[in-house]
Amino acid sequence: MALIKDILRTMDYGPSPESSEHVEAWLEKHKGGFGHFINGRFAKPGALFDVFNPAAGERIAGATQGSAADIDAAVAAARKAFPKWAALSAYERARHLYALARHVQKRERFLSVLETIDNGKPIRESRDIDIPLVARHFYHHAGWASLIDGEFPGTRPVGVCGQIIPWNFPLLMLAWKIAPALAAGNTVVLKPAEYTPLTALAFAEICVEAGLPPGVVNVVTGDGETGAALVEHESVDKIAFTGSTEVGRAIRKRTAGTGKKLSLELGGKSPFVVFEDADLDSAVEGAVDAIWFNQGQVCCAGSRLLAAEGVADALYAKLRARMAKLRIGDPLDKSTDVGAIVAPAQLERIERLMRDGAGEGLEFWRADDRVPERGCFYPPTLVTGVEPASILAREEIFGPVLVATTFRTPDEAVALANNTRYGLAASVWTENVNRALEVAARIKAGVVWINSTNMFDAASGFGGYRESGFGREGGREGLFEYRVADAPKRKPYPAKAAPLSALPGAAPSAEGPGLDRTAKLYVGGKQARPDSGYSYAVLDPGGREAGLAGLGNRKDVRNAVEAAAKALSWGAATAHNRAQVLFYVAENLSARAEEFAKRLRAMTGVSARAAEAEVDASVRRAFFYAGFADKFDGAVHATRSRFVTLAMNEPWGVMGIVCPNEAPLLAFVSLVMPAIAMGNCVVAIPSAPHPLSATDFYSVLDTSDVPGGVVNIVTGESNALAATLAEHDGVDALWYIGDAVGAAKVEALSAGNLKATWTASSEVDWLRAEGGEFLRRATQVKNIWTPYGE
Ligand code: NAI
Repeated sequence: MALIKDILRTMDYGPSPESSEHVEAWLEKHKGGFGHFINGRFAKPGALFDVFNPAAGERIAGATQGSAADIDAAVAAARKAFPKWAALSAYERARHLYALARHVQKRERFLSVLETIDNGKPIRESRDIDIPLVARHFYHHAGWASLIDGEFPGTRPVGVCGQIIPWNFPLLMLAWKIAPALAAGNTVVLKPAEYTPLTALAFAEICVEAGLPPGVVNVVTGDGETGAALVEHESVDKIAFTGSTEVGRAIRKRTAGTGKKLSLELGGKSPFVVFEDADLDSAVEGAVDAIWFNQGQVCCAGSRLLAAEGVADALYAKLRARMAKLRIGDPLDKSTDVGAIVAPAQLERIERLMRDGAGEGLEFWRADDRVPERGCFYPPTLVTGVEPASILAREEIFGPVLVATTFRTPDEAVALANNTRYGLAASVWTENVNRALEVAARIKAGVVWINSTNMFDAASGFGGYRESGFGREGGREGLFEYRVADAPKRKPYPAKAAPLSALPGAAPSAEGPGLDRTAKLYVGGKQARPDSGYSYAVLDPGGREAGLAGLGNRKDVRNAVEAAAKALSWGAATAHNRAQVLFYVAENLSARAEEFAKRLRAMTGVSARAAEAEVDASVRRAFFYAGFADKFDGAVHATRSRFVTLAMNEPWGVMGIVCPNEAPLLAFVSLVMPAIAMGNCVVAIPSAPHPLSATDFYSVLDTSDVPGGVVNIVTGESNALAATLAEHDGVDALWYIGDAVGAAKVEALSAGNLKATWTASSEVDWLRAEGGEFLRRATQVKNIWTPYGE
């Protein structure tokens, strides 16, 4: 007879399959195919596509390929349901969300089995992680539903939300989308992924069971074309997308200029950093969770192992030993660790990337090459000695493949961690809390897990930096995506006036020959001549020349971005320090109030009173943001026990700011001050017809200890300069206030590096334009999960 210690060593347990009886009965009931769920009812099935169980390679159901007409019907239902849903009392909406949570919980076992059969993920994961988190998400947001009015004053729901989700966590992604949207008072059309539509359809049944009003949630199944029809639908107010960066980029372009609110949760290539003083056994368990959880089909998978050189060999040895114990096979078996890849196309994608890696001479290590004969499987794989330039270190494999590189110093670890176009998550392993927090602060990622990995909770925000997208899901941060400012509609800006006419060189000065009165550009703390060598006449309302300004071009914008990037240590200065500098700006502006008022009158022709009022409001605004510099300071989220989850407001880095024509001083100050208060460095394009109060501002900046490069100013054609900023990969976020054509262009061109944009193409009431939204838009939230206790 086998000894217990031998059994424990081999882990050779017998099979322990989960029963799929109820799910099979449900599939049998729907064997004629599933129709869409529109307006509280299931439509008749239409043209069906096959849904497979990837572990068995068998067709299990047919779902309807959604057409543009189906999307239209679903959006119409959501539109019709919206006013009533939005008008429900917060308490009533909360009760609905609570009911959904309860019903999900009652069906937990059924939903887990269905998810596993549809997706191929191990039942242990769907049962212990996915579905409990779904219920948690609805409970958490039931709470928000009842608190929304008090906690989000001055805002209203966005309207009809189009939500497109991927196949890796089908029901969990549904919950991440639907729960906050409903809590915030919106209605929804959801398109699940074509590989995994079944739990969304089961959820639709739950909506009926739980008595959700018809039209509040609609589910239309189908592929990318169905998704594209939803994105393009005119009556959709917001798109929330999770999926590949490529499709995210296409959606950014398609929604440009439509006024649709957009949040994107995209790919990643997240670092998993193990320092010499890490607890290696814990790190190995972490790595198993980071890359073999859900077969590595996780957007935030810790797919790049960065190991300190001194412990790399020991770590790899432990990893290999652990990999030898991973059980790959039937996902419905409760002791399976690694289940099936979602579909043959995904398996082929993994295999193609691995062939490319092999072509680079990389060697793969596997405990066992064997996989079940039937179905879609890929064995857990470790690739060591991977150069940062290798395709396997750069591309998202989205499979159970861990690629490893070594580093020597913490600085090198951070550089390698950030050597990616993505920025979704990171995991840092060290027993030194100082190092952990320092590295967490320096890694550019939306979520950092210290001595842990893949921790999720409804109370914490989740989302990326850089090409991992923008916007957050979960917690308070996530709700902002589903609310908009409740402001009256204002007049749209007219299209920009005729192009500025270029004048060669400097103009003769009234103060005598030889004196150059052309206002120059301001780059890196110094005045700079425009690259073009041209200036333009700034005219007063009577058409007389009020001065000359430099005609900046592409090159000037690039120089300004470079100068801003060099000044980024501004963001690491203490908030107190930044506050002092901003107070000084306010004080110096105030000291020169008369001069600025005179300039405003000369340029814009406003009355003395109006000019004084604009300067006065500008001074107050500068004081306001000086005051906020050390107060807009994040939160500690109540997530899991024994974790402190720090939600840190971090600056974007380099921000482009395109000011409107009007209120040339007040708009400039209202936009630039919150950005620099939060630690960003700015390239500002002032009002094109009235740039001189911004160019006068140089000397205020110079005398107020604002470090060179923190504020850079390029005068010229707003829309042309805005386009260059939008295209520039060194710009991390861009605010544009101006006409609709310019706004659309900025949004479309920003798709390159997926920078966050904030555009307004209707007039702004600058006297009131201050506060939370400006500060929030000047920052991105990083959630740092820190465990405590032994
Ligand atoms: P995908 O981005 O094509 O699909 C995600 C969702 O978008 C699905 O519902 C799909 O039907 C929909 N979609 C596709 N094209 C669309 C379009 N033009 N307009 C609107 N919706 C559209 O991802 P796919 O092809 O399934 O996977 C490819 C790769 O993307 C994966 O290997 C992985 O690297 C990455 N991916 C990343 C995910 C993440 O969570 N960040 C999730 C899924 C995939």
